[in-house]
Amino acid sequence: MAVRPRVVVTRRVPAAVEDRATALFDATLNPTDTPFTMGQLQNAMRTADALLPTVTDKITAEVLGTTPRRAKIVANFGVGFNNIDVAAAKQNGIVVTNTPDVLTDETADTAIALLLMVARRLGEGERELRAGKWTGWRPTHHLGTKVTGKTLGVIGLGRIGRAVAKRASAGFGMRVVYYDPPVSAADGKAVGAEPRDSLEAVLRESDFVSLHAPALPETRHLMNAERLALMQRHAFLINTARGDLVDEAALVRALQAKTIAGAGLDVFEKEPVVTPELLAMENVVLLPHLGSASTETRVAMGMRALDNLEAFFSEKPPRDRVA
Ligand code: DGY
Repeated sequence: MAVRPRVVVTRRVPAAVEDRATALFDATLNPTDTPFTMGQLQNAMRTADALLPTVTDKITAEVLGTTPRRAKIVANFGVGFNNIDVAAAKQNGIVVTNTPDVLTDETADTAIALLLMVARRLGEGERELRAGKWTGWRPTHHLGTKVTGKTLGVIGLGRIGRAVAKRASAGFGMRVVYYDPPVSAADGKAVGAEPRDSLEAVLRESDFVSLHAPALPETRHLMNAERLALMQRHAFLINTARGDLVDEAALVRALQAKTIAGAGLDVFEKEPVVTPELLAMENVVLLPHLGSASTETRVAMGMRALDNLEAFFSEKPPRDRVA
């Protein structure tokens, strides 16, 4: 790399990643961590060779179509890339990459943590204790739902869905069923999961339903009022994928009507805004999109985005090209 490519990093990233970005490239960092405006994103596309945005930056057709434009690659810091208009990137000849694999374990751990928290009412218990309302142990205090031996329905048996299935079957003795037509029964069996022919069959049969599908136009509101109504009254919904997958208003109605028992959510339709009714419900566990938030994983995600840029500027195929 004779002339160092100019790379704009839109948010603070772990120090080790910022150091490597500066060592490899003529990198512009964002020390104040202030989210970029559309104008700043367009300016970066105009003046830099590459953009390294995160999952909250909206890389729209307007941003990608900036003219004149110097940027040739957008290396997303995140496995999900629904923040990027991939069709517009293709149209403009812009390469897009993501950061798969390195966050699989953390996100699966978060799904299992939500499942345990909501089933055993752990958030509620902690709130009670911190509020000074705990009066001591008693046999009928704060009873939740047993997890071991129950049925988990996994919607989408990709990398993260598989990691969740494995944890649930091997770690918690759960019966795991899944819906993901391209995944063979043999691949499901490898992680202790049995296929079902339809999403509806999984919903009817499961005590817990965990969503692991990508956010696409066709998966928007995958969990709508009709599908929520198929879940059992004692069942819980877990979402660590994308908020778009759940019709949040329909979920609130299902929770209010008690047609499902509760929900564990790490992602929301209009982040960082959370439907106010959810905030008031004790049977809902809410996390601020922490799925991949361990130091090790966030460093690995940043390094993976830099690896993609390094390959691209060395005229090698970036490992995680999605467009
Ligand atoms: C992703 O990478 O898509 C997560 O939502 C953030 O880690």
